[in-house]
Amino acid sequence: MKTNKENLPLDEILLEDSLQLLSNLPDECVDLVVSSPPYNLGKEYESRQALEIYLAEQTAVLLECSRILKNTGSLFWQIGAFSDRGMLIPLDIRFFPILESCRLIPRNRIIWARQHGLHAQKKFSCRHETILWFTKSDNYKFNLDAIRVPQKYQNKKHYRGNRKGELSCNPEGKNPGDIWLFRNVKHNHEEQTIHPCQFPEDLVARILLATTNENDIILDPFMGSGTTAVVARDHKRHFIGSEMEPKYHQVALRRLSGNPDPNGCFPNLKTLRDYVEKTGQSIDKFKFDMQVGNKASERSKAKFYSEEYHLQEMEDRLIYEESVFAANLRGEEIPLDPKLNGNGKKTSLQNQIVKQVEEVEQIELRLWS
Ligand SMILES: C[S@@+](CC[C@H](N)C(=O)[O-])C[C@H]1O[C@@H](n2cnc3c(N)ncnc32)[C@H](O)[C@@H]1O
Repeated sequence: MKTNKENLPLDEILLEDSLQLLSNLPDECVDLVVSSPPYNLGKEYESRQALEIYLAEQTAVLLECSRILKNTGSLFWQIGAFSDRGMLIPLDIRFFPILESCRLIPRNRIIWARQHGLHAQKKFSCRHETILWFTKSDNYKFNLDAIRVPQKYQNKKHYRGNRKGELSCNPEGKNPGDIWLFRNVKHNHEEQTIHPCQFPEDLVARILLATTNENDIILDPFMGSGTTAVVARDHKRHFIGSEMEPKYHQVALRRLSGNPDPNGCFPNLKTLRDYVEKTGQSIDKFKFDMQVGNKASERSKAKFYSEEYHLQEMEDRLIYEESVFAANLRGEEIPLDPKLNGNGKKTSLQNQIVKQVEEVEQIELRLWS
């Protein structure tokens, strides 16, 4: 049904084709489009033609997204690295000119990095995906204060000049940059549903807080398990979306409802934990779709690590791996693995980070005093 700005299907996920939804929406009615499109290439990808057909379909969707985006709006398109029998198909590179041809303006090419994944045998293992950010005009929203992250050296001060002694960085935190490391929603992730490629909620939250305000409207034409809708709702924004696959559409509706199904089952552990915390009921009464053990575990017993923690861990690991490579090249002594503490025992990364920061701050203090 054709809609106008007064009767938009707000806070609904329609079980239909994305083009059907989009073609019914009026011009300039949403503030943000955020999505990860399907890769309909799968194993059927055998010829250039299949890729060209896929890109033509995506172009039709993106033209519609551009039409319905407000002048102040943004579009984020998350695209995986696609590989067919070892041959790389750099989809983000193919999408870039398509987005430009939709009269959108590029702002960032965000790298969503991974610490883990398959180990390739005949090329470098793939450890990132891409998120392309485009805006409709130069008059776009960017709420940096809503998404600041801690400075690496919070107490760093000017050491000369007329600002000597004053903090040299913003104490409220820094811009998070364009390398993101939100943990992939796979095993042991409390948000994991039956959907094979979910967005982490925090990744969507960063996009949404940076580029929209309360009551703004967020569109995801490929809703999957409904992550965009859940995050929009949690941050007092409206959502509109479509999902073609009934089983994922059901998961999205169950996530949004927050209630157990008639069998006492939830779509994921996060929804289950939220429910028992809200109602005070025993967690033992419920289960969730991807449950492995007999019992769901309480949130208070779970360990959560911030994105900052994972970034630091990845940085440390890359520095260590490259120092081993360099030592090997030069025939020097191989450095000890800091994770193994030189004696085969694991050390807590958190302690290592605190220790490293303290050491650097001590050195800086000595230099400036
Ligand atoms: C990569 S997944 C999106 C996952 C989502 N970001 C989440 O967090 O769960 C893409 C989704 O698009 C759906 N899909 C594929 N073609 C579609 C179409 N033409 N219209 C609507 N949905 C479609 C698929 O069923 C799949 O669930």
